[in-house]
Amino acid sequence: MTSTSKYNIWSQKTRNNPHELYRQMRENDPTYKVVDGMGQTVWFFTKYDDSVSILRDKRSIKNPRKSLSPDVLKDRFGVDIEADIDRESPWELINQHMLNQDPPDHTRLRTIVHKAFTPNRVRELQPRIEQLADELLDAMDSKTDGDLIADYALPLPITVIAEMLGIPVEDRDRFRTWTNVILSGDMSSMAMIMEFVQYMNKMIDIRTKEDTGDILSALVRARDEGEKLDRMELLSMIFLLLVAGHETTVNLIGNGMLDLLQHPDQFEELRANPALTDKAIEEMLRYNGPVDATLNRWAGEDMEWHDGRVIKAGDVLIPLLLAADRDPATFENPNVFDITRENNPHIAFGHGIHFCLGASLARMEGRIAISKLMERFPKMALNVDPANVQRGLSIVLHNLNVLPMKYQ
Ligand code: HEM
Repeated sequence: MTSTSKYNIWSQKTRNNPHELYRQMRENDPTYKVVDGMGQTVWFFTKYDDSVSILRDKRSIKNPRKSLSPDVLKDRFGVDIEADIDRESPWELINQHMLNQDPPDHTRLRTIVHKAFTPNRVRELQPRIEQLADELLDAMDSKTDGDLIADYALPLPITVIAEMLGIPVEDRDRFRTWTNVILSGDMSSMAMIMEFVQYMNKMIDIRTKEDTGDILSALVRARDEGEKLDRMELLSMIFLLLVAGHETTVNLIGNGMLDLLQHPDQFEELRANPALTDKAIEEMLRYNGPVDATLNRWAGEDMEWHDGRVIKAGDVLIPLLLAADRDPATFENPNVFDITRENNPHIAFGHGIHFCLGASLARMEGRIAISKLMERFPKMALNVDPANVQRGLSIVLHNLNVLPMKYQ
């Protein structure tokens, strides 16, 4: 987004550490309106209560093409609702997923996969996730130092989601390239989408002939039996699960370890008392959560905001989760990293109907990853000055590019 903005939300400096800027926004412009380079009005929300209210409001919608009235669509976007969908566009092939849909489509799509992510189903995965973590740690044992992201934080969730979907793990470097390039939206992303689609079509063909008991087979069954899912929705679902399944959990492990190592008293407390792990994970999610800006929502109709301004139908609404989770009106001493925090209603997994489907899985992966890492390397240390740690430029993800560490 290019815009003349009073607050530079997009700079590398802010992305590395957005908290000071968010404090200023929360105090001075808690509902901050900006017009982007395309003329689109965007509202950023930095207070917890406001973010929750936007995330649960039925008037904030995900699919303007279907959910905005044709008049508003034409007026705001110059779009003819009947003619505008290019069903052959590669982008359309991977964007018809639940996170971009409103009810009833959202409900239909979420229902098809939700069973695979219930707390009970996730508990069954525990032994396998522990085994994967042990294997990665064994490989790290032979080194004195390395990059925690590449060695551990990334391969663990990628392998888990690939196995759940039923995609050969040997291909995981390819998913990483596909998802990275496609999310970057750069010149080669269209070609990457087509490569992804070709590969997935082959996987789908295999499941059409034989049910292999994985999520991909369940999706193919849903397509064939009840026609609950069309081809674009099937490809989009796989893409969403792959991206959401690893681009976020990697940050829980990476950001969480960085915070622990920057707060040695907390690190020691957790090491001495592993029963605190669940609470520590919640504090990691709150203090430097994996996701910052939620994906776009639009006002489905004019909304009178509590400060007297009107949010117009078609405006973009972006709650900033990292800002909400440090709001002093909700959290006592919000800038203190406290793994024993009692009252922690963070919204790192979002809120409302799009609340993260993978929250139980992510919590379990985080718990296993952090506790096993601390057991194996009780004296581990950062191998970089924290002031020089660089994060990605996306405002959606709060991610570390690398995290150099000494394994000891
Ligand atoms: C710590 C790790 C994770 C975090 C912080 C996280 C965060 C989020 C957030 C904030 C949303 C809502 C976005 C919005 O409202 O615009 C979301 C949605 C979603 N997440 Fe996660 N996520 C994590 C891990 C996972 C995992 C492991 C999966 C499993 C595949 C997953 C699957 C999904 C799906 C499918 C949705 C869309 C739900 C819907 O639209 O109903 N996430 N996640």
